[in-house]
Amino acid sequence: MIALGCDHAGFELKQFIIKHLEDRGIEYKDYGTYSTDSVDYAVYAEKTARAVAGGECTLGLLFCGTGVGISMAANKVRGIRAACCSDMFSAEMTRRHNDANILCLGGRVVSPEKAIELVDVFLDTPFSGEDRHARRIAQITELENRF
Ligand code: RB5
Repeated sequence: MIALGCDHAGFELKQFIIKHLEDRGIEYKDYGTYSTDSVDYAVYAEKTARAVAGGECTLGLLFCGTGVGISMAANKVRGIRAACCSDMFSAEMTRRHNDANILCLGGRVVSPEKAIELVDVFLDTPFSGEDRHARRIAQITELENRF
């Protein structure tokens, strides 16, 4: 189950990706927002990130204008590793090396076609599980626990 969330600036891209997930037969839960009316991205970052951190969803996709603000907010939720990506290499490696659990995309940055590619590589790439990457992720968690 994939968690989805966006603000007004990411709404149209989220809708486009929903259609793509449906075409692929991938189940999702949409935590809003549900229109282009202006909203605050932290609200939807929290709803979506909680669903991933709590285990209700395995991975999440977040959308705002740049992907940046919504990733900053999502990363405040314990256990979330949200990555804002606009290139294929980063979107793949953030799964393989960082075990990122949320991909953040900018509706004003990437085209719908590029977003599909980024989403697919993110969802289809596993964490490598290699010791050095597991150790580094554990250090992120440990850092989180100190604050
Ligand atoms: C909203 O205008 C915009 O600031 C927001 O979607 C996002 O880009 C912030 O990082």
